[in-house]
Amino acid sequence: MPEIITTVAAWRTRRAAHRAAGRSVGFVPTMGALHEGHASLFRAAREENAVVLASVFVNPTQFDETHDFENYPRTLPADQALMDAAGVDAVFVPSVAEMYPDGTRYRVDEAEFSRELCGAHRPGHFSGMLTVVLKLLQIADAERAYFGEKDWQQLALIRGMAQAFFLPTTIIGRPTVREADGLALSSRNARLSPAERALAPRFHQVLTTAPTPATATAALSAAGFAVDYIEDHDGRRLGAVRLGATRLIDNVPLA
Ligand code: PAF
Repeated sequence: MPEIITTVAAWRTRRAAHRAAGRSVGFVPTMGALHEGHASLFRAAREENAVVLASVFVNPTQFDETHDFENYPRTLPADQALMDAAGVDAVFVPSVAEMYPDGTRYRVDEAEFSRELCGAHRPGHFSGMLTVVLKLLQIADAERAYFGEKDWQQLALIRGMAQAFFLPTTIIGRPTVREADGLALSSRNARLSPAERALAPRFHQVLTTAPTPATATAALSAAGFAVDYIEDHDGRRLGAVRLGATRLIDNVPLA
């Protein structure tokens, strides 16, 4: 099983030993409720680094709805087993106080792209996400950090932040992992009712086949999705929809 590390000081001691021994570190930050998408990130980190560090931290500052934060699945024992099978060496599981010794006085604010797409529908989300990712990258002090392309806007903002703040860690994006029916893997899929789960793959299908964002929006609305947005941006079609209380996001390359 991966070693559980709960304090910044404890990881720093281990990191110093890895550095002295010339061992590279690959870092995979997560909020837990792990699935095969996370496992693919762990395996990529395993292939490219001597040591694999994961983190499990349900970050309160990136939830725009309190009930979403409270209901976010917390499944550490199952997560540990998945990390073990994927070759993770250590997992950083900090408390909120450990991550936010400043309370939340200091925040990262991106003034342009974070206001669009998901940012237009989730006020404060990307500021909270970038803030915690900056903290985690500073703590992990890794050569490489791995993120899924399902959260394409998140990945683009993290890459931009790493460049803007001269962070030494290389940011690596990995392809979205899907169910056989096309639904992108997400911790939130577990919240879908059987009827919603049966409908959910239509999201990816319509994103891929509709000629325009407007026709995609019309087709998804007619099928029973509440559409937050569907937009073409930078060679990709991105979307967010709601099925009941569950919000799903996805993106595909434009043909
Ligand atoms: O993608 C996630 O799971 C989270 O947004 C991240 C990157 C771990 C930051 O909390």
